[in-house]
Amino acid sequence: MLKLDLSKIAPFVGDDLAAVYEELPRAHDYLINKTGRGNDFLGWVNLPFDYDKEEYARLKAAAARIREDSDVLVVIGIGGSYLGARAAIEYLRSPNYNLIKKDTPEIYFAGNNISGTALRELFGLIEGKRVSVNVISKSGTTTEPAIAFRLFKSYMEERYGKEEAARRIYATTDKARGALKGLADGEGYETFVIPDDVGGRYSVLTPVGLLPIAVAGIDTDRLLAGAAAAAEEYQKPGLDNTAWQYAAARNALYRKGYTTEILASYEPAFRFVSEWWKQLYGESEGKENKGIFPASVDLTADLHSMGQYIQQGLRNLMETVVNFEKTREDMIVGTDAANADGLNFLAGKTLSEINLAAIRGTALAHVDGGVPNLRIDLSDMEEEDFGRLIYFFEFACGLSGYLLEVNPFDQPGVEAYKKNMFALLGKPGYEKETEEIKKRL
Ligand code: PA5
Repeated sequence: MLKLDLSKIAPFVGDDLAAVYEELPRAHDYLINKTGRGNDFLGWVNLPFDYDKEEYARLKAAAARIREDSDVLVVIGIGGSYLGARAAIEYLRSPNYNLIKKDTPEIYFAGNNISGTALRELFGLIEGKRVSVNVISKSGTTTEPAIAFRLFKSYMEERYGKEEAARRIYATTDKARGALKGLADGEGYETFVIPDDVGGRYSVLTPVGLLPIAVAGIDTDRLLAGAAAAAEEYQKPGLDNTAWQYAAARNALYRKGYTTEILASYEPAFRFVSEWWKQLYGESEGKENKGIFPASVDLTADLHSMGQYIQQGLRNLMETVVNFEKTREDMIVGTDAANADGLNFLAGKTLSEINLAAIRGTALAHVDGGVPNLRIDLSDMEEEDFGRLIYFFEFACGLSGYLLEVNPFDQPGVEAYKKNMFALLGKPGYEKETEEIKKRL
């Protein structure tokens, strides 16, 4: 179950909400009938029903094998090729997944930076443990994961020999294109396919996300079932469509000058879902000098840092709070005879009850401070609702991008830093750029 409460945006949106609703049928049609910009990247819309069932069975078998023969899985990827898996594992298992007692492998993420310190530390952490590697890149040419994989490939081959290393390396990439595909075929790695019509940030329900998620012991059938239920619901146009309501609310607020959206959660396990969400919305909307800037806070921790700005800083913020009706665990505050900390007024209350007071109190304070507040309620922190939330955000993001009249499925801006980096590093083919950038420096 996913509910959206928009009662606290009424004073801020005025007539704009009605105006946005009028534009939604067209945005919806673009997604369903593939008539808008970027329409060759809409494979995610029906992905929860329409996926390769044979490959999915093979993926589950690979996950079982990794659970059996490995103490550690290293997942190499960046952006959409890692954030979804990390979000799911931290949210559905634990943000301390590698530390908790479990019968599934530790999972480390590499190739999402170019830090020698981070990579050296990772090699130290996996020492003496049985290792498998899942290298993920849709293009197969992204520099950060390619560098990490070059180092891991030689580590694995040195440690296990070429044949066993190849058995322990799994590649998730394009079905035909890219350097990684050529490499994987040449070396004989088991490969999984990222469909042509699914972009990186929409790929968590493909093998990109599902293989590491399954290795972590998460029930991917339940996750896909939640996403399928959401797809059925949000593909129906209408004012009662919750994805429509979310897209309409944030776009109406944007038109009123609320140009930053903060995703807030009171569960630490949600942190990487926010990171995934930021990539989804930031890369989909932020172009042509437009777009809502996606930010996130972990509450209540950030009430003691970002809280000051949210309450009284520049008034261009809106806030979307994700709340859980039932958390995975709970605790009760006890009574203390001395009551030196003055907390006996909380005795007998659960932490969830106290957290709920923080959620409600903060929402009212922020609204009073001029920050429109949207609230998403999920029933629990289980697989079905996670699948539902993923699809909800994806569908609403597609709608939002079309409401902004941008192509929600490209990311031309990501190329700019790469061009400069390659020029600085003297990549063949970049000679002219190297000359130009040297002059600028
Ligand atoms: O959403 C996107 O397409 C990007 O963020 C990619 O996921 C990211 O750049 C990684 O690309 P690739 O999977 O090709 O290595």
